[in-house]
Amino acid sequence: MNHAVKEELVTGLKGRDFLALVDYTPAEVRYLLELGIDLKRRHKAGELYQPLRGKTLGMIFEKNSTRTRVSFEVGMYQLGGHALFLSRNDLQLGRGETVWDTGQVMSRYLDGIMIRTFAHKNVVELARGATVPVINGLTDLSHPCQAMADYQTILEEKGTLEGVKLAYVGDGNNMVHSLMMGAAKLGIHIAVATPEGYEPDTEVLEMSQEIAEQTGAKIEVLRDPKEAVSEADFIYTDVWASMGMEEEQELRLKAFKDYEVNAELVQYAKSDYRFLHCLPAHRGEEVSQEVIDGGHSIVFDQAENRLHAQKAIMAATM
Ligand code: CP
Ligand code: NVA
Repeated sequence: MNHAVKEELVTGLKGRDFLALVDYTPAEVRYLLELGIDLKRRHKAGELYQPLRGKTLGMIFEKNSTRTRVSFEVGMYQLGGHALFLSRNDLQLGRGETVWDTGQVMSRYLDGIMIRTFAHKNVVELARGATVPVINGLTDLSHPCQAMADYQTILEEKGTLEGVKLAYVGDGNNMVHSLMMGAAKLGIHIAVATPEGYEPDTEVLEMSQEIAEQTGAKIEVLRDPKEAVSEADFIYTDVWASMGMEEEQELRLKAFKDYEVNAELVQYAKSDYRFLHCLPAHRGEEVSQEVIDGGHSIVFDQAENRLHAQKAIMAATM
């Protein structure tokens, strides 16, 4: 990348919220992926890189988390800064203080805010109230930080994103929304298979397909998991009942019974396919134990890349 182009990208990213991939240009998404790979290499080489010295990230959690919490906190530490874990119940937010006021107040102390919440509008409202960058750490609609880690993993695995086919089998949820938008921005072919009634959000699908027309990506939503998986380089799945949908568990077990990623289904993929899952996983539901614990699975590389991909996002925006 030539120096002037890079400078323009770097300047353009400073101070920005990271709410959804739709807000980022293909060049910005690509730059962040490559920055994640570079920060990973530097960290593994033992190099200290601390552009966020003296800065603090607040992390608001309204849902459980293992990866997001630990990777953001460690990432902030590695970048020279500090992270604060803030659970909804401990904040005045849990007693009715508005999201907007919370954003205003927190911006007087913090240099960035990460939030994991239910309704996507809460993240948008927080970003409206805040004067510091707000990062989406998962909503019911999307999970863009996870998608960045996933595409970093795919890029590292293949050395290129050119010609890659990603198959997603299961629920048309927050995860698939961010994967579709990421595929659209990066020019990737994604084939999604869901049972009837569990398709991805129409608006996200249409927006992704519109962007795909300009980038050469292909976004398909199908019914048949075999068709989606056919000749795929990567097979991705996620839980059938996301956080907040626990009471639908039984109903969903029935609706998704033909959508398990198992030894039979993976036969339709390329022989060197790789298996992806954002985790946490339910073995024996969306994926069989032999697939997730088998030689094609790279789910823990993916989990590791949350750290590096988010360091790139924080270093670029904060
Ligand atoms: N994949 C993911 O976001 O994991 P956590 O829920 O553990 O943060
Ligand atoms: N779709 C899952 C992702 C968890 C990281 C959920 O929202 O629970």
